[in-house]
Amino acid sequence: MINIGENKMNKKNIGIYIHIPFCKKKCEYCDFKSYVGKENLIDRYIKWVNHELKEVGEGNKIDYENNIDDLIIVKTIYIGGGTPSILPPKYISDILRTVKENYTIDNENLEVTIEVNPGTVDEEKLMEYKKCGVNRLSIGLQATQNRVLNVLGRIHTYNDFLVTYNSARKIGFDNINVDLMLGIPGQSLEDVQESVEKIIKLSPEHISTYSLIIEKGTPFYKKLEKNEINLPGEEIERKMYWLVKRKLEDAGYVHYEISNFAKRGYESKHNLACWNQEEYVGVGAAAHSYTNNVRYSNICEIEEYINNYENDMETNNFEFHEKQTKDSKMKEFMMLGLRKINGIKIQDFKNKFGENPIYLYRKELDKLVNENLLEIDGDVIKLTEKGLDLANLVWEEFV
Ligand SMILES: C[S@@+](CC[C@H](N)C(=O)[O-])C[C@H]1O[C@@H](n2cnc3c(N)ncnc32)[C@H](O)[C@@H]1O
Ligand code: SF4
Repeated sequence: MINIGENKMNKKNIGIYIHIPFCKKKCEYCDFKSYVGKENLIDRYIKWVNHELKEVGEGNKIDYENNIDDLIIVKTIYIGGGTPSILPPKYISDILRTVKENYTIDNENLEVTIEVNPGTVDEEKLMEYKKCGVNRLSIGLQATQNRVLNVLGRIHTYNDFLVTYNSARKIGFDNINVDLMLGIPGQSLEDVQESVEKIIKLSPEHISTYSLIIEKGTPFYKKLEKNEINLPGEEIERKMYWLVKRKLEDAGYVHYEISNFAKRGYESKHNLACWNQEEYVGVGAAAHSYTNNVRYSNICEIEEYINNYENDMETNNFEFHEKQTKDSKMKEFMMLGLRKINGIKIQDFKNKFGENPIYLYRKELDKLVNENLLEIDGDVIKLTEKGLDLANLVWEEFV
């Protein structure tokens, strides 16, 4: 049992994130915690994930000593990875059963997302997901050109994606996200245009467009060092971003976060809660949590995660990161909130912290407004178009 803080609220909404760290093959760009060839650990891993879920549900993993009466209400569940869809579907239904048996759920509004990779699901699996309560799919496509998918090291073709997408529609999934990536080596502006146009024709409810980040330690990082890959360049990458934004907005999608677009009413509840600085609990190896003003994470290595549980050393599985002060919490609220295209409402900030951000951050805001990175419009502080391209300069002021 670890005591990570105090809270005097009586009722709180949370999101639950469950990490599934298995993949068929590692993509060239990916530094998310996931393993290839460790499928033999799946059964033991899921057993302890269910155990951890129960512990959290019973208030045993985290000691809510000072808020024992808190009623925790689960608003969203997000099963991410890795590739959750490579698991036999019975594990997904086990996980969701554990949540339902151990938590108070907001059944009317509950959003349950699973990340799905093309080439790892069939109709039967998708049907199982639907039966056990999954109501949102997030499909990682990245691009519609097989040439580009190949560069990324993806295991699937565009046609595999279409099979997955059409099966999901046939089975009745009516809330689907598609992930796209921009700035991929060898990707042209025309490729991006083709990808976005093809996806618009399919009409998913939600589209995420991530600009490629070359993460240290990934094959792309090493290849870039050796000049074995060429990135499109910042100017082209920005053109890609604005092309996607224009095309999606013309097609009726709402741009609601730097990298996210949705049909109205289909914004990701789970992610919006994170950007609104609401609480979430991460379960499984490498999962992050934010509760009672404390940020902490679970140990990264899957074997250690399992062994610690099996040898009664489970406290070793949790790594404390920080207990927020009011000052750090307010700054973080600015950073997270400004990711949203509608920005931050000054009144929301006042209600949450009892302070006026305009006075509190007068120096920072003056500078960012003068540089045309932020605009203040009545009750709203938000990124300008220039700020969308240079958001890092805005975050720097609130670190
Ligand atoms: C957590 S990943 C896992 C989802 C799933 N396994 C897949 O690959 O489709 C979610 C999304 O993050 C994006 N992503 C992962 N690594 C990235 C990177 N280095 N740069 C930009 N986007 C990245 C990809 O679009 C991916 O679909
Ligand atoms: S499938 Fe997804 S999680 Fe797995 S390596 Fe590729 S991007 Fe990363």
